[in-house]
Amino acid sequence: MSHKIALNFEDGVTRFIDINAGETVADAAYRQGVNIPLDCRDGACGACKCFAEAGRYDLGDNYIEDALSEDEAQQGYVLTCQMRVESDCVIRVPASSEVCKTQQGVYEATISGVHKLSDSTIALSIKGESLSRLAFLPGQYVNLRVPGSDQTRAYSFSSLPRDGEVSFLIRNVPGGLMSTFLTSLAKAGDSMTLSGPLGSFYLREIKRPLLLLAGGTGLAPFTAMLEKIAEEGSAYPLHLIYGVTNDLDLVGLDRLEEFTRRIPNFTFSACVANPESSYPRKGYVTQHIEPKHLNEGDVDVYLCGPPPMVEAVSQYIREQGIQPANFYYEKFAASAA
Ligand SMILES: Cc1cc2nc3c(=O)[nH]c(=O)nc-3n(C[C@H](O)[C@H](O)[C@H](O)COP(=O)(O)OP(=O)(O)OC[C@H]3O[C@@H](n4cnc5c(N)ncnc54)[C@H](O)[C@@H]3O)c2cc1C
Ligand code: FES
Repeated sequence: MSHKIALNFEDGVTRFIDINAGETVADAAYRQGVNIPLDCRDGACGACKCFAEAGRYDLGDNYIEDALSEDEAQQGYVLTCQMRVESDCVIRVPASSEVCKTQQGVYEATISGVHKLSDSTIALSIKGESLSRLAFLPGQYVNLRVPGSDQTRAYSFSSLPRDGEVSFLIRNVPGGLMSTFLTSLAKAGDSMTLSGPLGSFYLREIKRPLLLLAGGTGLAPFTAMLEKIAEEGSAYPLHLIYGVTNDLDLVGLDRLEEFTRRIPNFTFSACVANPESSYPRKGYVTQHIEPKHLNEGDVDVYLCGPPPMVEAVSQYIREQGIQPANFYYEKFAASAA
């Protein structure tokens, strides 16, 4: 039986490879043209040491302590020249994709839907034959080229790939290049080019309660993660706090309600910062984090939104004197261009 391995390079590029039963990760990577660090191939030098973020695997006992210590193996470090897998795995490679002679995938697609959910928010779906080959970890993003220009913008997937189709949740930035294209010109059937997947903000194996904190269209990666969790289930409680600035930014509540039905231990709350909002729950995300959500630090926190929100929430968590077991964040920074 074959499995999929996600290789995450240190420049943020992710490349998926197939691995056959009994094949080592290093052999599978080289067979598919990905030159991950490798030297002796014998479990002796440690050159192929990587970190397994998720999955079940076997390292055998044909390697020496100098190459990989017992302590490192316990922590999740692996020798890819020795590693055979028993499930899909996610592996962090301590080298850039360029050094490993691989690169991000480029896909051609067409717009299958573009809708203004409100004046501030756009839902975009794209579809294409080539997207049936696109794999990504829920939470990751791609660069979408703005049609008619040579510029790209980064967008997190808000869905899992389904029948060659993926979706995005996009803030309408007045006068913005992509925003103007999507609100004034885009129509079903228009071509779009995307490259990726990218990013280290993705759902890890769930080993403890999760606290998910979204600001505005920073909700996008969480809906992709929740899709995955709905498929696979979670033994731990998951709580999402979704904060926006104004009432018109509050989109996607129906979908979140649907997730509460599909994922038994998922709960969420939403809040609007504008004091004049008609929404009953007001204020910032930080005002709605309760001590039980931080679970005395035994929690994995995922945070995504515009940079000021991410900074404010990070600072708030630090000030609580609680160190979450893991803290992952993504800033929706404006493009340098
Ligand atoms: C890793 C990553 C993932 C991202 N994922 C998403 C996503 O899923 N959904 C999403 O909506 N955005 C996301 N973004 C932001 C997105 O890439 C664009 O920056 C944004 O959509 C604006 O693009 P634009 O072409 O419309 O505006 P631009 O032409 O880039 O900007 C026009 C003007 O508006 C300013 N500006 C840009 N963005 C903002 C903002 N948010 N607030 C205020 N001023 C701004 C710019 O500095 C510039 O002056 C992500 C960014 C990163 C880095
Ligand atoms: S390449 Fe030497 S230990 Fe794997």
